[in-house]
This record gives sequence, structure tokens and C-alpha cells, in this order.
Amino acid sequence: MLRNLLRYSLLVVLLLYASAALGENQMDPAPADWPNFEYKREPGQFKRKRNGMIDPSPDVVSLKFLPKDNYGFVDWAKAIKDGVITPRDSIFEDKTAADNDAEAAPDVLIKSKLDFMPDVMFPHSAHSTWLKCSTCHPKIFRKKAGGTPITMAGIWKGQFCGKCHDRVAFPTRNCFKCHSVPREAKK
Ligand code: HEC
Ligand code: HEC
Ligand code: HEC
Repeated sequence: MLRNLLRYSLLVVLLLYASAALGENQMDPAPADWPNFEYKREPGQFKRKRNGMIDPSPDVVSLKFLPKDNYGFVDWAKAIKDGVITPRDSIFEDKTAADNDAEAAPDVLIKSKLDFMPDVMFPHSAHSTWLKCSTCHPKIFRKKAGGTPITMAGIWKGQFCGKCHDRVAFPTRNCFKCHSVPREAKK
């Protein structure tokens, strides 16, 4: 009688333990797939599990949780803004993007040469998160609004914005992500 009771309670404990372990496994197919939770954190902060413990698993966010633009491409700028990803400044612990803080970089309105195209807003902030100032200045663009004669044909040939867009940044077929500022109606 007592032995049976012992045996059954042992079995129950084992079963409970197993189901808890299984449950945890099923809950964590990719621990990073919990948007709006662990990813809202400052650079350098630890990722944490739901119970508050530090989560040492690598940062992996599956595609379905990354924000998309209207063409279905990942909208990386929004992914950073929403806190879904927090890229490091450098793969070296001690390096920061210090050179990016030295000087203010205002957003630049690039007036369209043709009436039917909206003007282009160049957002510095969205770029300097990823790039050093010297990636673009002075070789690709002069550091002066209107200082570089940018053309769309040149962009499509891989110059100017086309050094990156269509290659490593969102493609140029998404016209209105760059041509985003409606022109005042012409008289
Ligand atoms: C990566 C940003 C970017 C994208 C994407 C982009 N453009 Fe442009 N485009 C520019 C810039 C910068 C200029 C130069 C300023 C101006 O004239 O508007 C320009 C200029 C133009 C011009 C003016 C004439 C010329 O050759 O310079 C036309 C027309 C134009 N783009 C059409 C388009 C169309 C159509 C698309 C989509 C298929 C597109 N652009 C996508 C950045 C972009
Ligand atoms: C992705 C390329 C890119 C990067 C990176 C970049 N810039 Fe620029 N910058 C531009 C473009 C494009 C213009 C406008 C050029 C034009 O209108 O001909 C510009 C213009 C400027 C201007 C002139 C603004 C004005 O109103 O005259 C300043 C100042 C400037 N950048 C500073 C910086 C600084 C500081 C950094 C680093 C934090 C930086 N830029 C990083 C592309 C870049
Ligand atoms: C040296 C590389 C490089 C150059 C040159 C460059 N870009 Fe970008 N751009 C990027 C990267 C990287 C991103 C972020 C990833 C993405 O959105 O695809 C980006 C993002 C953007 C965005 C999205 C910002 C947001 O908040 O959604 C716009 C708009 C843009 N670029 C316009 C331009 C225009 C206009 C030019 C030329 C005047 C230009 N870029 C030149 C690399 C570049």
C-alpha cells in the first residue's frame, strides 16, 4: 500500500517534470521570436526570458517578425526604430561609432529636377546608424546640400544612392521611399 503510493507519487512527479521540460521546449522554438518583449532594450542590455532570467541564446529574429515595406522587403530602418534589432557599432568591444557624433547631419531635401517626380528627402539619421560619415563624404557626396549633381540614370548605373540602393539597401523600384516629399503644385 505505502509502496504503491510512493511509486505513484514518484511517477506523478516525473511526469510533471517531463511535461514542464517539454512545455518549455515547445515555448522556445526560437526564443528571439517574442517581439515587443525582449527586444525593446538598449544596446548592450541583456536579453531576458519571460521569467526575467538572462537569456544567453544568440539574437535571431525570424523574418516574419521583421517589419516589411509595401514591397515585402524588410524595412531595416523601422526594425531599428521599433527596437526589434539593435546592431552593434563594431564587432570589436571597445570601438564605437564616435566619428558619427562630431557634427550634426541634418536631413537634406533634394529638389526634383522634373516636375512629375516628388522631391527626395535624404534622411541622415537612418544612414548614420549603419554607416560612417566617411563612407559617403566626400567621395560619393559633397558635404553640401545641392553640391552633388545626382541623377536617376546615375543611380541606376550604381553611382550616388545606387552605390548601396539596389545592392545592400532597399531597391530603387520602391520609388516613393526616396521621392517622398510632394512638390508644391505648379502654377
Ligand atoms: C534611393 C533613392 C531613390 C529611389 C529609390 C528612386 N530615386 Fe529617383 N532620384 C533620386 C535622387 C536623389 C534624384 C536626384 C534629385 C532629383 O532630380 O529628384 C532622383 C531623380 C529622379 C528623376 C529626375 C531626373 C533624373 O534623371 O535625375 C526621376 C524622373 C526619378 N528620379 C525617377 C525615379 C523613379 C521612377 C523611381 C522608381 C522606379 C526612382 N526615381 C527611385 C533618388 C531615388
Ligand atoms: C549614405 C551617405 C551619407 C552618409 C553616411 C552621411 N551623409 Fe551627409 N550627406 C549625404 C547626402 C546625399 C547629402 C546631400 C548632398 C547633396 O544635396 O548634394 C549630405 C549632406 C551633408 C551635409 C550638408 C547639409 C546641408 O544642409 O548643406 C552635411 C553637413 C553632412 N552631410 C554631414 C554628415 C555627417 C556629419 C555625417 C555622419 C554623421 C554624414 N553626413 C553621413 C549623404 C551621407
Ligand atoms: C553607403 C550606402 C548608402 C548610400 C550611398 C545611400 N544609402 Fe540610403 N540607405 C542605406 C542603408 C544601409 C539603409 C538602411 C537599410 C534599408 O532601409 O534598406 C538606407 C535607407 C534609406 C532610406 C530609408 C529611411 C527610412 O527611415 O526608412 C531612405 C529614404 C534612403 N536610404 C535614401 C537614400 C538616398 C535618397 C540616397 C542618395 C542621396 C541614399 N539613400 C544613399 C545605405 C545607403
